[in-house]
Amino acid sequence: MNTDKTLKIGVLGSGAGSNMQSIIDEIDAGRVDAEIKIVLSDVEDARILERARKRGIPTLWLDCSPYKTKLDGPAQLRCIELLHEHDVDTVVLAGFMRIVKAPLLNAFPMRILNIHPALLPAFPGLHAWRQAWDYGAKVAGCTVHFVDEGTDTGAIIIQRCIPVLNTDSAEALHARIQAEEHIAYPQALRLLTEGKLRIVGRRVIIDDDDAVKTDSR
Ligand code: GAR
Repeated sequence: MNTDKTLKIGVLGSGAGSNMQSIIDEIDAGRVDAEIKIVLSDVEDARILERARKRGIPTLWLDCSPYKTKLDGPAQLRCIELLHEHDVDTVVLAGFMRIVKAPLLNAFPMRILNIHPALLPAFPGLHAWRQAWDYGAKVAGCTVHFVDEGTDTGAIIIQRCIPVLNTDSAEALHARIQAEEHIAYPQALRLLTEGKLRIVGRRVIIDDDDAVKTDSR
């Protein structure tokens, strides 16, 4: 894959927006060649919208009712329309708590990314960090992946792992996972915009793998 240009990002999120913030910070620091064109949320008072507004990014609440867990029907069509209207070429799911399917997937083939708070394929779905904690896993972490038709099944771009500590609680573990997310997501976007991701089957080959291993930013 060779993008070789500034990413035009549309963000979908439901929560605090700390991942989006980490991306904004890296854009502002000149380390990720991207622009966030619009931020959409299914939660009217989500903090992610407030953060975006503060930065002067257009925001919109998507009323997804009557659906509880998916982005479907008129809300999905409106979402696609808005992303196109704002000239988006890459969709970033940043704590978006709804399942995304066609036609949105088809509108942005291999251009929708997600961050998941576990080392996939372990612990897909909701509250993944708690699943890892409850299971007694010794290692936890996060995964940035392309989104496909399944739930958290798309091709993996980057994973970062941390040990589960004796002193951890599920919440403390989540906080430490999030610190890794804030490194991994901007890093994946940087690799994408630099044209360093090649997709072979369901394997994402990173041209410049060493940079990912050693670069903490
Ligand atoms: C993040 O930990 C992200 O991995 C998770 O929600 C949190 C959002 O935080 N996403 C999922 O669980 C998706 N299934 P943020 O709003 O502060 O970025």
